[in-house]
Amino acid sequence: MSINATTSLVLITEIKLENFRCYEYIELPIKSGVTLIYGENGSGKSSIIEALYFSISGKSFRVTDTNAVIRKNLKQTQTFITFSNGSGVKITKKLNEKSKIIQTKDKKTLSYSQLVTNYPSCLIENKEFFFTTSSPEEKRSFLNKTLFYVEQNSKKTLNELKKILYQRSACLKNRDLAQLPYWDSKLILLEPLITENNLNLVQSINEMLKNSNLSNHFSIKNPWLKDLNIQYSHGYDKNQSFSSILQQNMEKDMILKRTTAGPHRRTFDLLINNKSAYEILSRGQQKIASIMLHLLQRELIKIHTEVEPIVLMDDISSELDNDNANLMLKYLLNNNIQTIMTSIENKRFLDEKDLTMFYVEQIGDKSNVK
Ligand SMILES: Nc1ncnc2c1ncn2[C@@H]1O[C@H](COP(=O)(O)OP(=O)(O)O)[C@@H](O)[C@H]1O
Ligand SMILES: [Mg+2]
Repeated sequence: MSINATTSLVLITEIKLENFRCYEYIELPIKSGVTLIYGENGSGKSSIIEALYFSISGKSFRVTDTNAVIRKNLKQTQTFITFSNGSGVKITKKLNEKSKIIQTKDKKTLSYSQLVTNYPSCLIENKEFFFTTSSPEEKRSFLNKTLFYVEQNSKKTLNELKKILYQRSACLKNRDLAQLPYWDSKLILLEPLITENNLNLVQSINEMLKNSNLSNHFSIKNPWLKDLNIQYSHGYDKNQSFSSILQQNMEKDMILKRTTAGPHRRTFDLLINNKSAYEILSRGQQKIASIMLHLLQRELIKIHTEVEPIVLMDDISSELDNDNANLMLKYLLNNNIQTIMTSIENKRFLDEKDLTMFYVEQIGDKSNVK
């Protein structure tokens, strides 16, 4: 896929952290290209990836309760991120309060949704490394995140789905047979929209797996990649109509007080020649497959938003052989993809002169970056 001429390349130029996890105060200049952060276990590498992710999303990928990112025994943390176009974002998270997100240029407050719309990212970390062992929820959130950027109506549609399921649960709980058909009909109306969005997305990903610069690049060392594909799972038996499934499940749903089958249970499987990739691929190969899928996700987001998403990659070295680590690095460098990655060691990257490296160490209860 060629780079879109109108794609805007907004790079991160600096991040400052105040009382974030093990950091008291650091200023970290970030160059274009690839930055490697290395250091021993527990030195503070993941905390930097977490801080970068937090500063462009307001969320943490390690915890749902962001109170945990505030440095121990303190009352607030702040992150400041600056971009090459002069814009910046300051996030203040006070203990037990919602984060405040401020655009530094005009002091405008941003919502989470506005923030991630402006600064898309591609996060690849341990939980996300193995699609082959991920939970259906984790795979669903991969689809949702991609659709958020790729499909205009997806945010509205998913909010609507949440509302309908909530109301339907209430009816099931109260055995409210008068109201139940109303919410059933709403759900039956919404289902094809969600299924269509997801099927289109999965089709695009499968086409890119077969034929894209990215898959061509990685399949040099991994010919099996060309046989990899995603199989979408609707969340219900697709050989029957969704309305008949709701009918059949009514008694069961009332007992369990929730909608047991439907588009809210959608997920996917990774297959190689129609067999589960989990059974066929080694751990290292599974990791390559996941990295590929995330980089494909990044391509799709880039095409649809015309913004270059930054890549954040935690703990890349483990289980990746030298050939594949080099292949990945080459792709990121050749395509000018701003990437911040962490690793326990830097040995295998020493020959790479286009790489910026930082060493992280913890002294006492404080981490430092050099
Ligand atoms: N809220 C916090 N306040 C202070 N230190 C923290 C906090 N949360 C985690 N830590 C410490 O941060 C250190 C670095 O963690 P981490 O970034 O996960 O290291 P690495 O990824 O290098 O293994 C750990 O020693 C941990 O105890
Ligand atoms: Mg770590």
